[in-house]
Amino acid sequence: MRLHFPERLETSPGRLASGLRLIDKAPEGRPYLVVNMVSTADGKAAMDWRTRGISTDVDRDLFHHLRTQADAVMVGAGTVRAERYGTVTKTPELRAKRVEEGVREVPLAVIVSGRLDLPPDLPILGDPDQPVVIATASDGELPGLGDHVAYERVGDDLPLLMARLRSEHGVRAVLCEGGPTLNSFLLAAGLVDELFLTLNPKLLGGAAALTIVAGRELVEPAELELVSLAEAEGELFTRWRVKR
Ligand SMILES: NC(=O)c1ccc[n+]([C@@H]2O[C@H](COP(=O)([O-])OP(=O)(O)OC[C@H]3O[C@@H](n4cnc5c(N)ncnc54)[C@H](OP(=O)(O)O)[C@@H]3O)[C@@H](O)[C@H]2O)c1
Repeated sequence: MRLHFPERLETSPGRLASGLRLIDKAPEGRPYLVVNMVSTADGKAAMDWRTRGISTDVDRDLFHHLRTQADAVMVGAGTVRAERYGTVTKTPELRAKRVEEGVREVPLAVIVSGRLDLPPDLPILGDPDQPVVIATASDGELPGLGDHVAYERVGDDLPLLMARLRSEHGVRAVLCEGGPTLNSFLLAAGLVDELFLTLNPKLLGGAAALTIVAGRELVEPAELELVSLAEAEGELFTRWRVKR
């Protein structure tokens, strides 16, 4: 992997996602929020409703290293359902890296599901060592889960969720892994600070596949400033800051 901007040097997914100190950037009253997505060159965010066909080993490596930079990993219910999410930290090495980076050793998984429409047999819900917060508008509870699963009854109020993650759960930086619908609400609420976007050298075409931001058009376009650009085997790895 080669970094092309802001300087030219050899790098790796692990190095690209090290020492970012996102936890030091938290504004008053909420965590710093970084979105990580992959798309094709024509902007499609899924192939047959999964990311697998548009993600590569290098991208997946970066995906896992980026998780080591945040106290919490957040994801929408649609993505959790489609991708069958499991335990956030996959290896002892990544767990050790979390300690070095000064983030929570075991990341909090945050699932946003207004309707609480989640299959209780999701792998991520079945690991008693994986703390999970489900942000929901529902008064219900998923059956048969231990006390590693907690609920934040915030309705559809994402600013309130962010405030609670900071005040009640000590979260200083959140990595949001989509999907496109959750991204659109986060952007509309002005909660996104950065975007990591991998551009996979592929065209999918068609009108049905989601792009990385779905839902209604944003009232104001989110203006981005390029932070870094790396390349490996024709795939581009971009990092952007959302301008205020
Ligand atoms: N390319 C990538 O990097 C990438 C990343 C992630 C996902 N994807 C793809 O995107 C697709 C899924 O995306 P999606 O847009 O359908 O789903 P999504 O954004 O993951 O989840 C949407 C769901 O999240 C909940 N939600 C979102 N905003 C909410 C709010 N403000 N308040 C309460 N609940 C809220 C709702 O859950 P309820 O329905 O439970 O109420 C909503 O239906 C899959 O095909 C996946 O493979 C691609």
